[in-house]
Amino acid sequence: MSERSKKSMSASRTVKTQQIFPSDTNHHNTLFGGKLMAMIDDVASIAATRHCGRSVVTASTDSVDFLQPIRPGEIVSMVALVTYTGTSSLEVCVKIVAENILEQRKHLAAISFLTFVALDEHNLPVMVPEVVAETEDQVWLNETGKERAKVRKERRSKSKDLHQFFSNNLTI
Ligand SMILES: CC(C)(COP(=O)(O)OP(=O)(O)OC[C@H]1O[C@@H](n2cnc3c(N)ncnc32)[C@H](O)[C@@H]1OP(=O)(O)O)[C@@H](O)C(=O)NCCC(=O)NCCS
Repeated sequence: MSERSKKSMSASRTVKTQQIFPSDTNHHNTLFGGKLMAMIDDVASIAATRHCGRSVVTASTDSVDFLQPIRPGEIVSMVALVTYTGTSSLEVCVKIVAENILEQRKHLAAISFLTFVALDEHNLPVMVPEVVAETEDQVWLNETGKERAKVRKERRSKSKDLHQFFSNNLTI
């Protein structure tokens, strides 16, 4: 059997920067949460694709912690990294920093963890390269990823009854 390939965590690092316009905001005059979630999914999917060199689908979003509001005129920088790999699944962490360039202020606005699954040419889950942490921070992200993956698997198994319930009751 051929050995599983490995890829450094840094190789997946993906950065996206964009301005926030008034059309991106809600009636509190801050960035609409759904808009930020779409931006997160986009940058995270690029990092996941970069890691495995295959098509990926978003399997779930573990969490999005909205820590501080983002205002129009601010610049949002999103950094996405593959932090943990299962067999065919990849965990991606996205850090979102908002910056007011004119006032030279930056703040951590949100953090998110998502799971992607790599698919082969028949759209079936396929093994991904194992992610290799190289720095102290990356080792921490990777090691804490084991516990997040465990919680995710437990949640998925507990959700089976819920999925069955809604599959049988589509009109609710
Ligand atoms: C994600 C998907 C491919 C999983 O297919 P599946 O047949 O259930 O796959 P499996 O049970 O073999 O699981 C494959 C891997 O995905 C992981 N996985 C599946 N569902 C998951 C979920 N909801 N959250 C986290 N991981 C999940 C499994 O733990 C497994 O990981 P591993 O290989 O690292 O051990 C399938 O559910 C799917 O296509 N969903 C829709 C995806 C989509 O359309 N996304 C865009 C949303 S708009």
